[in-house]
Amino acid sequence: MEYRGYDSAGIGLVDDGLSVFKQVGLVSGLDIPESTTQTCGIGHTRWSTHGKPTDANAHPHTDCSGRVAVVHNGIIGNYDELRTTLSDHEFTSETDTEVVAHLLEVELERTDDLREAVSAVVAQIEGSYALGVVAAGYDGIIAARRNSPLVVGHGSDGNFIASDVTPLLAHTRSVSYLEDGDIAQVTREGVTIWQDGKPIDRERHTIEWSPDAAEKGGYDHYMLKEIHEQPTALRQAIAGRINGIEEGVDLSDLSLSEEFLASIDEIQFVACGTSYHACLYAKQLIEEFADVRATVEFASEYSIGSGRDPERTLVVGVSQSGETADTLRALRMAHRVGIRTLGVTNTVGSTMARECDDALYIRAGPEIGVAATKTFASQIIVLAMFALTVAETRGELDVTAGRELRRNLQGLPGAVQGVLNQNEDIKAVAEAYADGEAFFFIGRRLGGPVSLEGALKLKEISYDHAEGFPAGELKHGPLALVTEETPVLAILTDGTRPEETQNNVKEVQARGAPVIAIAADGYRGGHDVEFEVPDLGLLEPLVANVYLQLFAYHVANSKGRAIDKPRNLAKSVTVE
Ligand code: G6P
Repeated sequence: MEYRGYDSAGIGLVDDGLSVFKQVGLVSGLDIPESTTQTCGIGHTRWSTHGKPTDANAHPHTDCSGRVAVVHNGIIGNYDELRTTLSDHEFTSETDTEVVAHLLEVELERTDDLREAVSAVVAQIEGSYALGVVAAGYDGIIAARRNSPLVVGHGSDGNFIASDVTPLLAHTRSVSYLEDGDIAQVTREGVTIWQDGKPIDRERHTIEWSPDAAEKGGYDHYMLKEIHEQPTALRQAIAGRINGIEEGVDLSDLSLSEEFLASIDEIQFVACGTSYHACLYAKQLIEEFADVRATVEFASEYSIGSGRDPERTLVVGVSQSGETADTLRALRMAHRVGIRTLGVTNTVGSTMARECDDALYIRAGPEIGVAATKTFASQIIVLAMFALTVAETRGELDVTAGRELRRNLQGLPGAVQGVLNQNEDIKAVAEAYADGEAFFFIGRRLGGPVSLEGALKLKEISYDHAEGFPAGELKHGPLALVTEETPVLAILTDGTRPEETQNNVKEVQARGAPVIAIAADGYRGGHDVEFEVPDLGLLEPLVANVYLQLFAYHVANSKGRAIDKPRNLAKSVTVE
């Protein structure tokens, strides 16, 4: 689970006694005696919310008696209040989670039944939680969920809980997704789930991802592997959906009715991070092809806005994990006022997929590197196919433009492969410019989101100062930062108004900045470095993005950064 948080790690093992090992740092740093015979336990990797990363704040948290251990993902909103009711308990950490261990201690004085105790405790807490609890002398784990993801894995010689399915792949592909309010007892022999005190069946699903999909497969980093997986991921995304250049797109997994799609007057995209950039790209495609107003908002900033007719609005949440709390919050807000919601995600069974009125899967396979790469490309092409579908349904699709986009979608995996084949050249350029004081990425129209994404990738994994701009904005302020020490990466392709961006390139060159151009035919010449983008219409910026991914990777790698687990970040942020 380390990709969800890695500032500290811990494990709690039980039989008649409880042993806890926890500390700042990675799981591999935990010193668990090989001689342990305990076979039931809970583990946790932390992304700090309440309290700094310290040994004491690492999970599991225990009660005063040292009998109970708790791991928690989420935030307990009323922990201060609860803590005041526990004045005779000695707290050893600054976390919100510790209060759960002490409340359990109180309940276990009343009952010997750990499930009953957990049930009584969760009734007192406000906020979000996925909890795993063990207690000395009690067989199995008790798990509880509200507003934080939790999956049960059904294995042949043991059963599991986890925050998502990826870590289960090595053990089992048979899973059940817990629902809010569920409490599960997980023992070696079986799993029992209760809702409102009554046993309940939760459907078993088989995960389609292969067990080795979550391995590094010979690459130095997951990120590099995932960049290289893009041609395959893209083929998977279009398989069965585009069956020929002359045929319409077949998004038969979409259940939104044609009448509804024909009637809407606005599509609102909500997302965070890289997924937000994918939405900025998709907005332009939707407007171009379907002639519908499209807006994009950071999910954490979303509000319905005035003047919208809920009946004629569609909110599209885009999230690789399908678990990002900010995005789920925005979707729920829309749902509450009667707006239909569509989730575009990589994760079957995710909260987003289950809560939205409709879901579209990007089929990219597991992404482990914290910096999203292959899922960005897959999100954009699934949204491009969605744009074609909306355009067709509304009778807006220009036949020639539609044919061209379908042809380009089919050509994209090959074009991306062409960039990957230049890995060594890109590496040489990245190493030559790695010591820049700052890096600027510029591009217009579809080059705008790609510039933002190129800068985000670089800052996430190299910790260098990087910024992306719509190229025309450069002269309105950021140009003050441009010097001979600030490489500028410019996107000059179809869909990015390259002629105008060339003027901005001249402006930075006049200030001595080296320019790395990612350019289509006709726009190369006169730059310090040039990378070639093949003819692929409005998908050319997406091909350019692969150069930027590899550039970021090699800059970061030359500096020895923790590429798959950059400091302070996490893959899936399930708190607001
Ligand atoms: C985190 C990750 C980003 C990701 C963002 C949105 O911040 O570090 O890489 O883009 O979440 O994630 P999502 O799963 O919603 O696409």
